[in-house]
Amino acid sequence: MSLAANSIRIEPLGAGHDRLSFHCGNDSLDRYIREQAGQDARRDTARVFVAVAPDRERTIRGFFTLSAATVVAIELPPEMQKRLPRYPIPAAVIGRLAVDLGSRGLGLGRILLADAVRKAQVAAATVVMAVIVVDPVDEAARAFYAKFGFTSLNGPQRRMFLAVPA
Ligand SMILES: CC(C)(COP(=O)(O)OP(=O)(O)OC[C@H]1O[C@@H](n2cnc3c(N)ncnc32)[C@H](O)[C@@H]1OP(=O)(O)O)[C@@H](O)C(=O)NCCC(=O)NCCS
Repeated sequence: MSLAANSIRIEPLGAGHDRLSFHCGNDSLDRYIREQAGQDARRDTARVFVAVAPDRERTIRGFFTLSAATVVAIELPPEMQKRLPRYPIPAAVIGRLAVDLGSRGLGLGRILLADAVRKAQVAAATVVMAVIVVDPVDEAARAFYAKFGFTSLNGPQRRMFLAVPA
């Protein structure tokens, strides 16, 4: 069984969402949504978006964060470097993305990632951004992002990237 995109609503994290009951199996991501996400949203450090089902609007099924950063051209593949300046390249960052264990394997990770990429693409039409960067938490997360076309940056942080879709 998989979720229909219209059975899920993706909205900014708000005071009414139950952050304490979210469990994705990764301690740092669980701690993030419980302890830090609200502060990041209030302080404009990152935009935090959560997925809820219309019948249980407080329950967070999944979430992702978006912020901005720069990457250095030398971390990108040679064919991209040729088209880019030598100074830092503006990037959108999907810093964190996770799905609650109760909603795993239903296509929600795909829906969240597609929504995050779409939001970055829309933003890039106004404020230029060449790439979307992700920070995978472990090898399983790398495999997930690789499935959707992300490849490794040649940097020390083991980030992955995707060119912003045209
Ligand atoms: C990685 C994660 C977001 C996937 O969420 P999910 O809702 O179970 O994923 P989906 O059901 O949308 O899967 C979409 C596709 O990705 C595949 N996939 C899921 N997890 C994968 C993984 N770790 N490696 C490779 N492929 C994966 C699925 O098989 C599916 O492929 P298919 O459509 O060809 O069958 C989820 O497992 C999670 O929250 N993990 C813990 C946190 C984490 O690793 N976050 C990632 C970045 S920090």
